[in-house]
Amino acid sequence: MNESRQDICNPAQPRAPAGANPDVPAEVGRFFGVGVGPGPAGFLPVAALEALHRAQVIFLPRARSAEQSVAGQCLAGLDIPASKLREIEFEMDPDRSILREHYSALARDIAAELLAGHDVAYLTIGDPMTFSTYGYTLAALRECLPEAPIRTFPGITSFAAAAAALGWPLGEGKERILVLPCPDDADSLRRDIETHDVVVLMKIGRRLPWVLGLLNEMGIAAQCALAARIGLPGEVLCASVRDFDGPAHAGYLSTMLIRRQAREQRHV
Ligand SMILES: C[S@@+](CC[C@H](N)C(=O)[O-])C[C@H]1O[C@@H](n2cnc3c(N)ncnc32)[C@H](O)[C@@H]1O
Repeated sequence: MNESRQDICNPAQPRAPAGANPDVPAEVGRFFGVGVGPGPAGFLPVAALEALHRAQVIFLPRARSAEQSVAGQCLAGLDIPASKLREIEFEMDPDRSILREHYSALARDIAAELLAGHDVAYLTIGDPMTFSTYGYTLAALRECLPEAPIRTFPGITSFAAAAAALGWPLGEGKERILVLPCPDDADSLRRDIETHDVVVLMKIGRRLPWVLGLLNEMGIAAQCALAARIGLPGEVLCASVRDFDGPAHAGYLSTMLIRRQAREQRHV
């Protein structure tokens, strides 16, 4: 990182207000948080698409383990010039200090673009405010450049996309819904299911085999659904996971919709 970028977020070196320094434009650019997908390219608000067209730079995260950015795949067919895209390798390190440094460095890069007068968009999958690293990026940017004008567009959560793809209503009447990253043990998941009408289960990964075992043991697997890689190559949509025999990757990038009791019929 070069010296001038490092200075951007160094509180020991207060910056001149925008306009006072001939190198800094009178107006800083705008920062847009945009959720894309999950899956099909058209799944984003019209206002967010306009922001993507307006932005001069679009940051898109890519998991270190992935060859391609999933958020980037969700842009297919949207006519966004590749020259605007800036892929950032995603840090999943459990070490908090490494993570903090990662997000501070990212915020400095974004701030440098904003101070150059460029509008910047940052892509996430689904809704930016739901289980997303966007929250960390936003906090780091606010600290680094408090005056940056920020607009976050709500996106389509993966569970809304799953419910729509499966034709599986999420909560009717006064049903209680719990949205939950998959716990590590079957006993806590069983308790969560027993105390709610509907459980939306995210971040399942390698836990899928025992989750399926639990649902079968509880006798509710027939009314539970799984959606994996919605709209992406290798998509799995399964409206009833009793006797589920899907591919090994089905737990990854997957969301389950779990009902404690079979859905009530409301028509004759
Ligand atoms: C880091 S969270 C992102 C959540 C996202 N911001 C949202 O609004 O749903 C990752 C989790 O989202 C869900 N997810 C993301 N993309 C998905 C897809 N294409 N199909 C099914 N589930 C998906 C999975 O549960 C995955 O473990």
